[in-house]
Amino acid sequence: MQTQHKVILANSQQMPEIADSAIHLMVTSPPYPMIKMWDTQFATLNPQIATLWQKLEADSEEETVTQIYNAMHEALARTWRETYRVLADGGIACINIGDATRTVNGKFRLFPNHSRIIEHCEKSGFTTLPYILWKKPTTKPKYKGKGAFLGSGFLPPNAYVTLDCEFILLFRKGKLRRFPPNDPRRYESAFTKQQRDEWFTQIWNVIGTRQTTSQLERRTAAYPDEIVDRLIRMFSVKGDTVLDPFLGSGTTVKGAIKNKRNSIGYETDETLLPLIRKKINLEPSACNLSITKREN
Ligand SMILES: C[S@@+](CC[C@H](N)C(=O)[O-])C[C@H]1O[C@@H](n2cnc3c(N)ncnc32)[C@H](O)[C@@H]1O
Repeated sequence: MQTQHKVILANSQQMPEIADSAIHLMVTSPPYPMIKMWDTQFATLNPQIATLWQKLEADSEEETVTQIYNAMHEALARTWRETYRVLADGGIACINIGDATRTVNGKFRLFPNHSRIIEHCEKSGFTTLPYILWKKPTTKPKYKGKGAFLGSGFLPPNAYVTLDCEFILLFRKGKLRRFPPNDPRRYESAFTKQQRDEWFTQIWNVIGTRQTTSQLERRTAAYPDEIVDRLIRMFSVKGDTVLDPFLGSGTTVKGAIKNKRNSIGYETDETLLPLIRKKINLEPSACNLSITKREN
């Protein structure tokens, strides 16, 4: 089966290249709000965010922290709303997101990104489904937000629980997807009993890319191939079209090629193109690949 793959260098807050209801599945991982490595990206998506960081330095107001956090999520929500438009009825959206811990305005705290995204997606019209917790190999526990317990590790009460899980949030647009009786595409896409038992549980132990990939790939915070493969096989059939509105290094397109789905990926950072090409070319069947840049 020949599949088609499109990489579009453009902002996914608007996806005019895609008709309404043309997508069967979205698999993505956006920049994480309140994680330092993504601050510049959010300020580019909405310059008001940079102004708010400056305001916080001057006024130290808690309200300003809230405004920054809200503005970051509103920048992502524009893509969630556009995804809702392009998804077909019964289509599934999978969003990999981590919560953030950070000392802001002199206070160490949690920014529960997963709950904000659920709120925004529900406001966009999505139905929330049971989500997956991706348990990563544990990092060191925190003491007063500083990384390790140091010498006071056994004394209550000022240590924090480590964030060692990320979320894979799952949503559906509209009603259950229906197929004609005995549709061969559905049967050809079946998974095994062992796969079903392993994949449809709430906690996934999958090794992160940090352990397995290059430094350039780490810059995009790429998720592992295994996560994408599972989600594509769980929530789409061969010949479907998968969207990644935050493509990064191209992991989702690679997974779509491998699993005989079509794909469309959006990415704003053109400097990632060599990395995307390299990753996709690992799959020899990537013959129908187009890369375009939207001219504004
Ligand atoms: C967390 S990374 C995605 C990593 C990806 N899952 C992978 O495996 O490589 C998020 C990506 O989204 C891109 N991005 C951020 N905002 C965007 C937007 N509005 N439209 C398109 N791409 C965006 C960033 O440049 C970054 O490469």
